[in-house]
Amino acid sequence: MNIAVVGGGRRCKDFMDVIQRHTFLEIHPRIVAVADIRPDAPGLVAAMEKGLFITSSYDDFFDRDDIDLIVELTGSMDIYNDILAKKKKNVRAIADRTAQLFWEISRVSTMQKKTDQELREVRALYSMALNDLIQEEVLVIDHRFRIIDTNDAFLEKFGLTRDQVIGQFCYRITHHLENPCSGEDHPCPLIQTLESEKPSQTTHIHLDRDGRKIYYSISTYPLFEDGDVIGAVELSRDITKDINVQKVMMQQEKLASVGRLSAGVAHEINNPLTTILTTAMLIQEDLDPNDPTYEEMSVIADEALRCRKIVTNLLNFARQTQPDKKNANLNEIIAACISLTQKQAAFKDVSVVYDPSDNLPRTLVDKGQIEQAMINLIINAVETTPAGGSISVSTQLSARQGFVDIVVSDTGEGIPENQLNKIFDPFFTTKENGTGLGLAITHGIIEQHGGTIEAASKVGAGTTFTITIPGEKIASHAS
Ligand SMILES: Nc1ncnc2c1ncn2[C@@H]1O[C@H](COP(=O)(O)OP(=O)(O)O)[C@@H](O)[C@H]1O
Ligand SMILES: [Mg+2]
Repeated sequence: MNIAVVGGGRRCKDFMDVIQRHTFLEIHPRIVAVADIRPDAPGLVAAMEKGLFITSSYDDFFDRDDIDLIVELTGSMDIYNDILAKKKKNVRAIADRTAQLFWEISRVSTMQKKTDQELREVRALYSMALNDLIQEEVLVIDHRFRIIDTNDAFLEKFGLTRDQVIGQFCYRITHHLENPCSGEDHPCPLIQTLESEKPSQTTHIHLDRDGRKIYYSISTYPLFEDGDVIGAVELSRDITKDINVQKVMMQQEKLASVGRLSAGVAHEINNPLTTILTTAMLIQEDLDPNDPTYEEMSVIADEALRCRKIVTNLLNFARQTQPDKKNANLNEIIAACISLTQKQAAFKDVSVVYDPSDNLPRTLVDKGQIEQAMINLIINAVETTPAGGSISVSTQLSARQGFVDIVVSDTGEGIPENQLNKIFDPFFTTKENGTGLGLAITHGIIEQHGGTIEAASKVGAGTTFTITIPGEKIASHAS
């Protein structure tokens, strides 16, 4: 079996090593060609040293008749689809998604009756795939949810031995449940696969020790014997990073487009607003203060002023100016914000408790912007806290190396789970007079500082916002 590899990165190199290490008796897989656009890709270089066919374009593979299998290792669906479209009929192609590779192998292994020799080959291939090629956690499960096989990645993740896992119910091992998984957060893709006899995919959300969400992508592939589904292969992968990246990107896109839109609208509105305001004031000047119209003119002027404030906010938000970062003492900036908001807090009989850490690294920040971000958070906290309550603000070294955490906690009404992912959206507000811009602006500012902002909340118990921003490395440490 001659294999051509598309993508000459690390995985290609690993793949070559694995194939060389294993002997497959009669199958004799051999890598004969590698394609990569980067001439210095490690797999490509290794292939060149071995005297294999190398090329910058995988299009060259399609003219050759010594290739049986094309393995796509770049991870790009577009490339894989392109290969599928261009390859000859008798050439097989598999994608980087190791799941598929594994499936192909297990499918071959159960397709027809085999001689002992063939069975041995398949087993060798199977064990190589299970433990060397697949970084995902794998379970092979029968139709009664009993675990038939697993791999090292899985055992390591759960800290269990083979003996503790084989023969057990999958839901007991992975979820400590007495019945198969179900419900919105933990749908069971296995049931789906057993019923439909087709691959299935779902995402589970678990909480880690710190209560942070971990997203698992779980795929199941049916296993056939004599044409019947006898179980499934289940692969799980931690996709938290991918999801978080996606969320951040979506948020940025949304902010950018809303920003452009509102900049335009705000400009248009500003001029007529000024006219309304000045006209109302001019009319008022000619009126006797006892005239009932005088009071009405005041209402018009006040409301126009309020609109102008919203428009100014919008323009601020839309401008998203690059921060002018300077070496600054974060604790002092925050202390200033707390005294700035003291009046609002005192007015509501809410106290603000400040607990700055005295071993923070210095930070490079735009003072004005950080102030704005902090004031937004503190005002939100004050608004939700009942009279007599208190808000706590603190700074500390972050669990993330080299970063600083700013934490604002309140004991207010909290944010319902289904709103938590909306609060940073521009214009999302639950307040009668809210603009829904405070958190959107804050989010933008923190992002511009290379940091993150997260909210954790429990309805009825309160909300905690955690800002994490990079600290400045101090060249010579005094202590
Ligand atoms: N500390 C908090 N406690 C509860 N809900 C909050 C808190 N901070 C923000 N929110 C929610 O997020 C929404 C958006 O906040 P924000 O962007 O500051 O806009 P606004 O304060 O004008 O409504 C608020 O309307 C509220 O529903
Ligand atoms: Mg607000």
